[in-house]
Amino acid sequence: MSFTKVCTVDDVWEGEMAPYTVNGHEILLVCADGGEIKAFQGICPHQDIALSEGKFDGNKLICRAHLWQFDAGTGQGINPDDCALASYPVRIDGDDVFVSTEGVEPLFAHS
Ligand code: FES
Repeated sequence: MSFTKVCTVDDVWEGEMAPYTVNGHEILLVCADGGEIKAFQGICPHQDIALSEGKFDGNKLICRAHLWQFDAGTGQGINPDDCALASYPVRIDGDDVFVSTEGVEPLFAHS
């Protein structure tokens, strides 16, 4: 599995999110409460809205358009709960954050 450097850990503090384009994938890095950095698809599974335009409270991502909510630790939908965000493998090496986009495709849900 190959990893691409995206940023450094100083670019995504605990409780923050940041959008990046990696190998043509729109991804969203989130650093949830506890400090672990995760990478999810950057576009809402509902419609074509960037999740970075929504809110992040440290635990939940909330899309600005129709307020769908996602668990920032797992990407699982909270409301509605029959959807999820695709998750990209993350590797931290020193201060650098790497993401692998191999074989990961965004998920889209019912409308
Ligand atoms: S586009 Fe995100 S909730 Fe509808």
